Amino acid sequence: MRKSQNTLWLLYCRPGFEQDCAQEALRQAKQQKPIIGIEQPGVIADSGYVVVALNDQTLSCRELIFTRQLIRLHHSIATLPERDRLTPILDAIATLPGTFGTLWLEVPDTNEGKLLTTFTRRFQPLLESALREQGRLLDETINTVRAEPVEASLLHPSTSSGRTEEISPRRNNHLPRLHIFFPGKSSALIGTSDPHNSAATIMGIARQSMPAEAPSRSTMKLAEAIEVFMDRSEQTRLLRQGMTAVDLGAAPGGWTWQLVKRGIRVTAVDNGPMKGALDNHPLAQHPLVQHLRQDGLKYAPRKAVDWLVCDMVEQPSKVATLIGAWFAAGWCKHAIFNLKLPMKKRIDALDSALGGIRKRLDEEGINYRMMAKQLYHDREEVTVFLTKTKG
Ligand SMILES: C[S@@+](CC[C@H](N)C(=O)[O-])C[C@H]1O[C@@H](n2cnc3c(N)ncnc32)[C@H](O)[C@@H]1O
Repeated sequence: MRKSQNTLWLLYCRPGFEQDCAQEALRQAKQQKPIIGIEQPGVIADSGYVVVALNDQTLSCRELIFTRQLIRLHHSIATLPERDRLTPILDAIATLPGTFGTLWLEVPDTNEGKLLTTFTRRFQPLLESALREQGRLLDETINTVRAEPVEASLLHPSTSSGRTEEISPRRNNHLPRLHIFFPGKSSALIGTSDPHNSAATIMGIARQSMPAEAPSRSTMKLAEAIEVFMDRSEQTRLLRQGMTAVDLGAAPGGWTWQLVKRGIRVTAVDNGPMKGALDNHPLAQHPLVQHLRQDGLKYAPRKAVDWLVCDMVEQPSKVATLIGAWFAAGWCKHAIFNLKLPMKKRIDALDSALGGIRKRLDEEGINYRMMAKQLYHDREEVTVFLTKTKG
Protein backbone atom coordinates (compact mmCIF):
# COMPACT_ATOMS: atom_id res chain seq x y z
CA MET A 1 0.00 0.00 0.00
CA ARG A 2 1.39 3.40 -0.93
CA LYS A 3 0.28 6.83 0.13
CA SER A 4 1.11 9.64 -2.26
CA GLN A 5 2.65 12.97 -1.34
CA ASN A 6 1.14 14.67 -4.35
CA THR A 7 -2.47 14.65 -5.38
CA LEU A 8 -3.18 11.65 -7.54
CA TRP A 9 -6.15 11.51 -9.87
CA LEU A 10 -7.62 8.42 -11.46
CA LEU A 11 -9.40 9.10 -14.73
CA TYR A 12 -11.41 6.60 -16.78
CA CYS A 13 -11.54 6.96 -20.53
CA ARG A 14 -12.33 5.02 -23.68
CA PRO A 15 -9.57 2.44 -24.23
CA GLY A 16 -7.16 3.80 -26.84
CA PHE A 17 -7.61 7.41 -25.71
CA GLU A 18 -5.38 7.36 -22.62
CA GLN A 19 -2.85 9.82 -24.09
CA ASP A 20 -5.56 12.28 -25.00
CA CYS A 21 -7.16 11.91 -21.58
CA ALA A 22 -3.88 12.51 -19.71
CA GLN A 23 -2.78 15.33 -22.00
CA GLU A 24 -6.07 17.16 -21.59
CA ALA A 25 -6.10 16.78 -17.79
CA LEU A 26 -2.52 18.02 -17.46
CA ARG A 27 -3.31 20.97 -19.63
CA GLN A 28 -6.32 21.88 -17.52
CA ALA A 29 -4.17 21.70 -14.39
CA LYS A 30 -1.32 23.73 -15.91
CA GLN A 31 -3.78 26.48 -16.81
CA GLN A 32 -4.22 26.98 -13.04
CA LYS A 33 -0.54 26.85 -12.16
CA PRO A 34 2.62 25.08 -13.31
CA ILE A 35 3.03 21.49 -12.18
CA ILE A 36 6.24 21.32 -10.15
CA GLY A 37 8.48 18.31 -9.52
CA ILE A 38 6.24 15.64 -10.99
CA GLU A 39 7.09 13.28 -13.80
CA GLN A 40 4.83 12.74 -16.79
CA PRO A 41 2.00 10.27 -16.13
CA GLY A 42 2.66 6.65 -16.92
CA VAL A 43 0.05 5.83 -19.51
CA ILE A 44 -0.79 2.20 -20.26
CA ALA A 45 -2.06 1.97 -23.82
CA ASP A 46 -5.58 0.57 -24.22
CA SER A 47 -6.06 0.21 -20.45
CA GLY A 48 -9.11 2.49 -20.24
CA TYR A 49 -7.68 4.59 -17.41
CA VAL A 50 -4.86 6.94 -16.48
CA VAL A 51 -3.36 8.13 -13.22
CA VAL A 52 -2.25 11.74 -13.17
CA ALA A 53 -0.17 13.34 -10.41
CA LEU A 54 -0.70 17.02 -9.69
CA ASN A 55 0.28 19.45 -6.93
CA ASP A 56 -2.77 21.21 -5.54
CA GLN A 57 -4.47 21.92 -8.86
CA THR A 58 -8.03 20.73 -9.24
CA LEU A 59 -9.71 19.21 -12.26
CA SER A 60 -13.20 19.84 -13.60
CA CYS A 61 -14.88 16.68 -14.91
CA ARG A 62 -17.41 18.59 -17.02
CA GLU A 63 -14.69 20.35 -18.94
CA LEU A 64 -12.63 17.27 -19.72
CA ILE A 65 -13.69 15.81 -23.05
CA PHE A 66 -11.88 12.47 -22.84
CA THR A 67 -12.48 11.83 -19.11
CA ARG A 68 -15.41 9.57 -18.32
CA GLN A 69 -14.93 9.68 -14.57
CA LEU A 70 -12.81 11.79 -12.23
CA ILE A 71 -11.59 10.23 -8.98
CA ARG A 72 -9.21 11.43 -6.27
CA LEU A 73 -6.89 8.46 -5.81
CA HIS A 74 -5.93 7.77 -2.19
CA HIS A 75 -4.39 4.30 -2.21
CA SER A 76 -2.93 1.81 -4.64
CA ILE A 77 -2.74 -1.81 -3.55
CA ALA A 78 -0.32 -3.55 -5.90
CA THR A 79 -0.85 -7.10 -4.63
CA LEU A 80 -4.10 -8.33 -3.16
CA PRO A 81 -3.88 -11.76 -1.51
CA GLU A 82 -6.12 -14.18 -3.39
CA ARG A 83 -7.56 -15.65 -0.19
CA ASP A 84 -8.48 -12.37 1.46
CA ARG A 85 -8.93 -9.31 -0.67
CA LEU A 86 -11.31 -7.74 1.81
CA THR A 87 -8.93 -7.04 4.72
CA PRO A 88 -6.32 -4.91 2.86
CA ILE A 89 -9.08 -2.96 1.14
CA LEU A 90 -10.89 -2.30 4.43
CA ASP A 91 -7.56 -1.31 6.03
CA ALA A 92 -6.93 1.20 3.26
CA ILE A 93 -10.46 2.60 3.51
CA ALA A 94 -10.05 2.92 7.30
CA THR A 95 -7.36 5.58 6.74
CA LEU A 96 -9.80 7.79 4.79
CA PRO A 97 -11.85 10.32 6.71
CA GLY A 98 -15.64 10.64 6.80
CA THR A 99 -18.49 8.60 5.40
CA PHE A 100 -19.48 7.71 1.87
CA GLY A 101 -22.78 7.96 0.05
CA THR A 102 -22.13 5.28 -2.53
CA LEU A 103 -19.77 2.38 -3.11
CA TRP A 104 -18.83 1.59 -6.68
CA LEU A 105 -16.67 -1.39 -7.57
CA GLU A 106 -15.32 -0.72 -11.03
CA VAL A 107 -13.17 -2.31 -13.73
CA PRO A 108 -11.58 -1.04 -16.94
CA ASP A 109 -13.89 -0.88 -19.97
CA THR A 110 -11.86 -3.59 -21.75
CA ASN A 111 -12.37 -7.27 -22.52
CA GLU A 112 -10.11 -8.15 -19.56
CA GLY A 113 -12.13 -5.77 -17.40
CA LYS A 114 -15.39 -7.48 -18.37
CA LEU A 115 -14.00 -10.79 -17.08
CA LEU A 116 -13.54 -9.19 -13.67
CA THR A 117 -17.19 -8.29 -13.25
CA THR A 118 -18.09 -11.79 -12.00
CA PHE A 119 -15.65 -11.17 -9.15
CA THR A 120 -16.78 -7.60 -8.42
CA ARG A 121 -20.43 -8.69 -8.32
CA ARG A 122 -19.60 -11.29 -5.68
CA PHE A 123 -17.31 -8.94 -3.78
CA GLN A 124 -19.65 -5.95 -3.68
CA PRO A 125 -22.09 -7.23 -0.99
CA LEU A 126 -19.21 -8.34 1.24
CA LEU A 127 -17.49 -4.99 1.18
CA GLU A 128 -20.74 -3.12 1.35
CA SER A 129 -22.00 -4.85 4.47
CA ALA A 130 -18.60 -4.49 6.18
CA LEU A 131 -18.63 -0.73 5.48
CA ARG A 132 -22.25 -0.39 6.63
CA GLU A 133 -21.44 -2.15 9.87
CA GLN A 134 -18.60 0.30 10.42
CA GLY A 135 -20.96 3.20 9.70
CA ARG A 136 -18.82 4.32 6.75
CA LEU A 137 -21.39 3.72 4.02
CA LEU A 138 -24.72 5.46 4.41
CA ASP A 139 -26.65 4.65 1.26
CA GLU A 140 -27.38 1.98 -1.31
CA THR A 141 -24.75 1.40 -4.00
CA ILE A 142 -26.83 3.34 -6.46
CA ASN A 143 -28.10 6.79 -5.58
CA THR A 144 -31.68 5.76 -5.16
CA VAL A 145 -34.04 5.92 -2.23
CA ARG A 146 -33.35 3.01 0.09
CA ALA A 147 -35.77 0.15 -0.02
CA GLU A 148 -35.26 -0.56 3.67
CA PRO A 149 -35.53 2.08 6.37
CA VAL A 150 -32.34 3.12 8.14
CA GLU A 151 -31.82 4.66 11.53
CA ALA A 152 -32.50 8.39 11.36
CA SER A 153 -29.89 8.94 14.04
CA LEU A 154 -27.25 7.66 11.62
CA LEU A 155 -28.19 10.33 9.15
CA HIS A 156 -29.05 13.20 11.43
CA PRO A 157 -27.19 12.66 14.70
CA SER A 158 -28.16 16.09 16.01
CA THR A 159 -31.89 15.38 15.63
CA SER A 160 -31.76 11.80 16.78
CA SER A 161 -35.29 10.72 17.58
CA GLY A 162 -35.09 6.99 17.10
CA ARG A 163 -37.43 7.31 14.08
CA THR A 164 -36.57 5.44 10.93
CA GLU A 165 -36.33 7.34 7.72
CA GLU A 166 -35.44 6.82 4.07
CA ILE A 167 -32.53 8.63 2.51
CA SER A 168 -33.48 10.64 -0.53
CA PRO A 169 -30.98 10.64 -3.40
CA ARG A 170 -30.80 14.44 -3.27
CA ARG A 171 -29.98 14.54 0.43
CA ASN A 172 -27.24 11.99 0.05
CA ASN A 173 -25.66 13.65 -2.95
CA HIS A 174 -23.25 15.69 -0.88
CA LEU A 175 -21.43 12.63 0.45
CA PRO A 176 -18.37 11.48 -1.52
CA ARG A 177 -18.59 8.26 -3.48
CA LEU A 178 -16.11 5.54 -2.73
CA HIS A 179 -14.56 3.85 -5.77
CA ILE A 180 -12.63 0.59 -5.70
CA PHE A 181 -11.13 0.15 -9.14
CA PHE A 182 -9.64 -3.20 -10.10
CA PRO A 183 -7.14 -2.87 -12.97
CA GLY A 184 -6.72 -6.66 -12.51
CA LYS A 185 -7.90 -9.26 -10.03
CA SER A 186 -4.91 -8.83 -7.74
CA SER A 187 -4.61 -5.05 -7.56
CA ALA A 188 -6.91 -2.24 -6.51
CA LEU A 189 -6.98 1.54 -6.69
CA ILE A 190 -9.01 3.20 -3.96
CA GLY A 191 -10.40 6.67 -4.46
CA THR A 192 -13.29 9.03 -3.90
CA SER A 193 -15.31 11.25 -6.19
CA ASP A 194 -17.27 14.40 -5.54
CA PRO A 195 -20.85 13.90 -6.80
CA HIS A 196 -20.79 17.53 -8.00
CA ASN A 197 -17.59 17.08 -10.01
CA SER A 198 -17.90 13.63 -11.55
CA ALA A 199 -20.11 11.47 -13.73
CA ALA A 200 -23.27 10.22 -12.04
CA THR A 201 -23.01 6.71 -13.49
CA ILE A 202 -20.90 3.71 -12.55
CA MET A 203 -17.64 3.57 -14.56
CA GLY A 204 -18.64 6.97 -15.94
CA ILE A 205 -20.75 5.16 -18.52
CA ALA A 206 -24.31 6.22 -19.33
CA ARG A 207 -25.03 3.02 -21.24
CA GLN A 208 -28.20 3.08 -23.34
CA SER A 209 -30.28 0.14 -24.47
CA MET A 210 -31.03 -0.26 -28.14
CA PRO A 211 -34.74 0.38 -28.79
CA ALA A 212 -36.04 -2.43 -31.00
CA GLU A 213 -37.84 -0.07 -33.37
CA ALA A 214 -34.98 2.45 -33.85
CA PRO A 215 -33.42 2.40 -37.32
CA SER A 216 -29.75 2.45 -36.28
CA ARG A 217 -27.45 1.91 -33.29
CA SER A 218 -26.45 5.54 -33.68
CA THR A 219 -29.69 6.37 -31.89
CA MET A 220 -27.98 5.47 -28.59
CA LYS A 221 -25.44 8.27 -29.11
CA LEU A 222 -28.10 10.95 -29.16
CA ALA A 223 -29.98 9.30 -26.27
CA GLU A 224 -26.76 9.32 -24.23
CA ALA A 225 -25.94 12.91 -25.17
CA ILE A 226 -29.37 14.04 -23.96
CA GLU A 227 -28.87 12.21 -20.65
CA VAL A 228 -25.29 13.41 -20.10
CA PHE A 229 -25.57 17.04 -21.17
CA MET A 230 -29.02 17.96 -19.87
CA ASP A 231 -30.54 17.46 -16.44
CA ARG A 232 -34.17 16.34 -16.20
CA SER A 233 -35.62 19.83 -16.06
CA GLU A 234 -33.57 20.96 -19.04
CA GLN A 235 -34.68 17.90 -21.01
CA THR A 236 -38.31 18.75 -20.28
CA ARG A 237 -37.79 22.41 -21.16
CA LEU A 238 -35.66 21.98 -24.27
CA LEU A 239 -37.15 18.86 -25.86
CA ARG A 240 -40.87 19.53 -26.11
CA GLN A 241 -43.62 18.21 -28.31
CA GLY A 242 -44.30 20.64 -31.16
CA MET A 243 -40.70 21.82 -31.45
CA THR A 244 -38.84 21.69 -34.75
CA ALA A 245 -35.44 20.29 -35.70
CA VAL A 246 -33.08 19.76 -38.59
CA ASP A 247 -31.01 16.57 -38.62
CA LEU A 248 -27.98 16.85 -40.91
CA GLY A 249 -26.55 13.49 -41.98
CA ALA A 250 -29.76 11.87 -40.76
CA ALA A 251 -29.75 8.51 -42.56
CA PRO A 252 -30.67 5.84 -41.71
CA GLY A 253 -32.56 7.76 -39.01
CA GLY A 254 -31.51 6.91 -35.46
CA TRP A 255 -31.15 10.53 -34.32
CA THR A 256 -34.32 11.58 -36.15
CA TRP A 257 -36.11 8.75 -34.35
CA GLN A 258 -35.01 10.12 -30.93
CA LEU A 259 -36.49 13.52 -31.78
CA VAL A 260 -39.67 12.20 -33.37
CA LYS A 261 -40.42 10.01 -30.37
CA ARG A 262 -40.44 13.23 -28.31
CA GLY A 263 -43.00 14.75 -30.70
CA ILE A 264 -40.49 17.00 -32.47
CA ARG A 265 -40.96 17.70 -36.19
CA VAL A 266 -37.76 16.85 -38.09
CA THR A 267 -36.34 17.82 -41.44
CA ALA A 268 -33.93 14.98 -42.09
CA VAL A 269 -31.21 15.95 -44.55
CA ASP A 270 -29.02 13.28 -46.09
CA ASN A 271 -27.71 12.33 -49.51
CA GLY A 272 -28.56 8.74 -48.65
CA PRO A 273 -31.88 6.97 -47.97
CA MET A 274 -33.68 6.89 -44.62
CA LYS A 275 -34.92 3.59 -43.34
CA GLY A 276 -36.42 2.01 -40.25
CA ALA A 277 -39.83 1.83 -38.68
CA LEU A 278 -41.73 3.71 -36.03
CA ASP A 279 -44.99 2.20 -34.77
CA ASN A 280 -44.90 -0.04 -37.85
CA HIS A 281 -44.53 2.93 -40.20
CA PRO A 282 -41.31 3.52 -42.09
CA LEU A 283 -39.54 6.43 -40.41
CA ALA A 284 -39.13 8.16 -43.75
CA GLN A 285 -42.94 8.29 -44.10
CA HIS A 286 -43.66 9.38 -40.54
CA PRO A 287 -45.87 12.52 -40.50
CA LEU A 288 -43.31 14.39 -38.38
CA VAL A 289 -40.41 13.60 -40.76
CA GLN A 290 -39.53 15.28 -44.00
CA HIS A 291 -36.55 13.74 -45.75
CA LEU A 292 -34.52 15.94 -48.09
CA ARG A 293 -31.82 14.39 -50.23
CA GLN A 294 -29.46 17.32 -50.09
CA ASP A 295 -25.93 18.26 -49.10
CA GLY A 296 -26.03 19.04 -45.40
CA LEU A 297 -23.13 21.46 -45.74
CA LYS A 298 -25.18 23.62 -48.12
CA TYR A 299 -28.70 23.19 -46.74
CA ALA A 300 -30.39 26.35 -45.39
CA PRO A 301 -33.75 26.12 -43.57
CA ARG A 302 -36.68 28.22 -44.81
CA LYS A 303 -37.62 28.99 -41.20
CA ALA A 304 -35.59 28.94 -38.00
CA VAL A 305 -35.88 25.73 -35.96
CA ASP A 306 -35.39 24.94 -32.29
CA TRP A 307 -32.79 22.23 -32.79
CA LEU A 308 -29.94 21.40 -35.11
CA VAL A 309 -28.48 17.92 -34.76
CA CYS A 310 -25.63 16.80 -36.97
CA ASP A 311 -23.90 13.45 -37.33
CA MET A 312 -22.37 13.92 -40.79
CA VAL A 313 -19.09 12.20 -41.42
CA GLU A 314 -17.23 15.36 -42.38
CA GLN A 315 -14.04 17.09 -41.25
CA PRO A 316 -14.44 18.63 -37.76
CA SER A 317 -13.39 22.04 -39.10
CA LYS A 318 -16.21 21.96 -41.69
CA VAL A 319 -18.80 20.91 -39.11
CA ALA A 320 -17.59 23.61 -36.71
CA THR A 321 -17.86 26.32 -39.36
CA LEU A 322 -21.35 25.09 -40.20
CA ILE A 323 -22.51 25.13 -36.58
CA GLY A 324 -21.12 28.64 -36.07
CA ALA A 325 -22.93 29.80 -39.20
CA TRP A 326 -26.28 28.30 -38.08
CA PHE A 327 -26.13 30.05 -34.70
CA ALA A 328 -24.91 33.31 -36.24
CA ALA A 329 -27.83 33.25 -38.69
CA GLY A 330 -30.27 32.51 -35.86
CA TRP A 331 -31.40 29.30 -37.60
CA CYS A 332 -31.38 27.27 -34.35
CA LYS A 333 -31.26 27.74 -30.57
CA HIS A 334 -29.77 24.41 -29.50
CA ALA A 335 -27.49 21.88 -31.16
CA ILE A 336 -26.02 18.46 -30.58
CA PHE A 337 -23.37 17.46 -33.06
CA ASN A 338 -20.54 15.05 -33.50
CA LEU A 339 -16.98 15.92 -34.37
CA LYS A 340 -15.19 12.99 -36.01
CA LEU A 341 -11.63 12.77 -34.72
CA PRO A 342 -8.52 12.46 -36.86
CA MET A 343 -6.09 9.60 -36.10
CA LYS A 344 -3.42 11.98 -34.80
CA LYS A 345 -3.38 15.33 -33.00
CA ARG A 346 -6.95 14.86 -31.86
CA ILE A 347 -6.76 17.53 -29.18
CA ASP A 348 -5.40 20.05 -31.69
CA ALA A 349 -8.26 19.28 -34.06
CA LEU A 350 -10.80 19.70 -31.25
CA ASP A 351 -9.20 22.92 -30.01
CA SER A 352 -9.38 24.35 -33.46
CA ALA A 353 -13.00 23.25 -34.09
CA LEU A 354 -14.39 24.28 -30.69
CA GLY A 355 -12.24 27.43 -30.62
CA GLY A 356 -13.64 28.37 -34.03
CA ILE A 357 -17.22 28.04 -32.80
CA ARG A 358 -16.49 30.07 -29.64
CA LYS A 359 -14.84 32.82 -31.68
CA ARG A 360 -17.76 33.03 -34.09
CA LEU A 361 -20.39 33.16 -31.32
CA ASP A 362 -18.39 35.74 -29.38
CA GLU A 363 -18.09 37.92 -32.49
CA GLU A 364 -21.86 37.70 -32.93
CA GLY A 365 -22.45 38.62 -29.28
CA ILE A 366 -24.28 35.32 -28.66
CA ASN A 367 -24.34 33.96 -25.10
CA TYR A 368 -24.10 30.22 -24.97
CA ARG A 369 -23.18 27.12 -23.02
CA MET A 370 -21.08 24.48 -24.74
CA MET A 371 -20.03 21.07 -23.46
CA ALA A 372 -18.10 18.36 -25.28
CA LYS A 373 -17.57 14.72 -24.27
CA GLN A 374 -16.40 11.52 -25.78
CA LEU A 375 -19.51 9.55 -24.86
CA TYR A 376 -19.62 5.81 -24.22
CA HIS A 377 -21.42 5.27 -27.54
CA ASP A 378 -18.93 7.47 -29.41
CA ARG A 379 -16.02 5.82 -31.18
CA GLU A 380 -13.48 7.99 -33.01
CA GLU A 381 -15.55 11.06 -32.30
CA VAL A 382 -16.80 13.40 -29.61
CA THR A 383 -20.27 14.83 -29.08
CA VAL A 384 -20.95 18.49 -28.42
CA PHE A 385 -23.96 20.22 -26.87
CA LEU A 386 -24.41 23.91 -27.60
CA THR A 387 -27.28 26.04 -26.38
CA LYS A 388 -28.02 29.75 -26.47
CA THR A 389 -28.37 31.29 -23.04
CA LYS A 390 -29.85 34.57 -21.88
CA GLY A 391 -27.64 37.48 -20.82
C1 LIG B 1 -22.99 8.25 -39.18
S1 LIG B 1 -24.18 8.41 -40.40
C2 LIG B 1 -25.50 9.16 -39.55
C3 LIG B 1 -26.28 8.20 -38.72
C4 LIG B 1 -27.53 8.84 -38.15
N1 LIG B 1 -27.24 9.89 -37.18
C5 LIG B 1 -28.44 7.84 -37.49
O1 LIG B 1 -28.68 7.96 -36.30
O2 LIG B 1 -28.90 6.92 -38.15
C6 LIG B 1 -23.58 9.72 -41.34
C7 LIG B 1 -24.51 10.17 -42.43
O3 LIG B 1 -24.03 11.41 -42.89
C8 LIG B 1 -24.36 11.52 -44.26
N2 LIG B 1 -23.55 12.60 -44.82
C9 LIG B 1 -22.20 12.75 -44.78
N3 LIG B 1 -21.85 13.90 -45.38
C10 LIG B 1 -23.01 14.48 -45.79
C11 LIG B 1 -23.33 15.69 -46.45
N4 LIG B 1 -22.38 16.56 -46.82
N5 LIG B 1 -24.63 15.97 -46.68
C12 LIG B 1 -25.61 15.11 -46.32
N6 LIG B 1 -25.37 13.96 -45.70
C13 LIG B 1 -24.09 13.65 -45.43
C14 LIG B 1 -24.07 10.14 -44.80
O4 LIG B 1 -24.81 9.92 -45.98
C15 LIG B 1 -24.53 9.26 -43.66
O5 LIG B 1 -25.84 8.80 -43.87
